[in-house]
Amino acid sequence: MLDRASQNVAELAPDCAPVIEFKRGLLDDGTLLKGLVDENVADLVMSNGVFNLTTDKAAAFRSAFRILKPGGRFHLCDLCKVEEPVVDAAAAA
Ligand SMILES: C[S@@+](CC[C@H](N)C(=O)[O-])C[C@H]1O[C@@H](n2cnc3c(N)ncnc32)[C@H](O)[C@@H]1O
Repeated sequence: MLDRASQNVAELAPDCAPVIEFKRGLLDDGTLLKGLVDENVADLVMSNGVFNLTTDKAAAFRSAFRILKPGGRFHLCDLCKVEEPVVDAAAAA
């Protein structure tokens, strides 16, 4: 994934390459990404299809929110298992 991302930047947005950096780390290894990403630096944390693969969801969320600035945005797109039927809020309104 990191190789593909690097290739995409090089091909699709070469002007952005000098300011884009990819780092490899685990969200749930207990480090909270310390030593990899400073805290309170991110305006946006965005994840697609990663959190469902973590073994420690609480640690993964702590990692994300440690690096997020106060008032920053957290966008999460993922799979989840629901314990009860999901209410269709739009239909119920
Ligand atoms: C289904 S891919 C999604 C990748 C990308 N977000 C996308 O939409 O194409 C899941 C990614 O999560 C990464 N991943 C799995 N467990 C992880 C963990 N504990 N911490 C960080 N990344 C993890 C995998 O290495 C893989 O790159």
